[in-house]
Amino acid sequence: MRPTKKQLKEIEKFAESSAEKPGKAHDIDHITKVRKFAEIIAKREKADLDIIRVAAILHDCSIKKKGVKNHEKESAKMASKFLKNLKLDKDFINKVVHAIEYHGSRLVKNAKTLEAKIIHDADKFQTVGVGGFCRLLHHFSAEKKLDLKDAVDEIRDVQKRHYNVLQTKTAKKFIKDFYQLMQNFYRLYDKWDKVKIK
Ligand SMILES: [Fe+2]
Ligand SMILES: [Fe+2]
Repeated sequence: MRPTKKQLKEIEKFAESSAEKPGKAHDIDHITKVRKFAEIIAKREKADLDIIRVAAILHDCSIKKKGVKNHEKESAKMASKFLKNLKLDKDFINKVVHAIEYHGSRLVKNAKTLEAKIIHDADKFQTVGVGGFCRLLHHFSAEKKLDLKDAVDEIRDVQKRHYNVLQTKTAKKFIKDFYQLMQNFYRLYDKWDKVKIK
């Protein structure tokens, strides 16, 4: 069985309670944005929208759990348990769980389904571009306590890595402009950074 409207509401409620508080990198706004963009890609790439919707909603559900090394795997485990309790179809659950488990940029090479690749791409769109820069700046600077320069270097690396592993044609085409804009930003940033007081 696929999720009914009522079950989808329950899944959304679970994701809301698992998300970080508003303003943090993995808050409910992040989940909503990943879901929206994943649905856009899915329509263009003719993927299974039910799998996409549920996987996007639950993709970071373990994020608040302490001591977790691989939040993708842990989120997949938690999502599986939650969806089994809702008595959804086993094959459907397996496909959702697979998409969650491989949404990391280092893991996506092992993704076997179009839906898993789409969840990955929609998630990475949240790091590449101006919005992604702001989100990561808060993460590295306010949360990880890096110096501003180190935080910018870190973000530049993340954006490059994430852009280079995009999987779907639709995401690559859509995200290209956002990424190019950031490359111009870094070019000007380096120019500014080289100016030293003598
Ligand atoms: Fe994640
Ligand atoms: Fe995410």
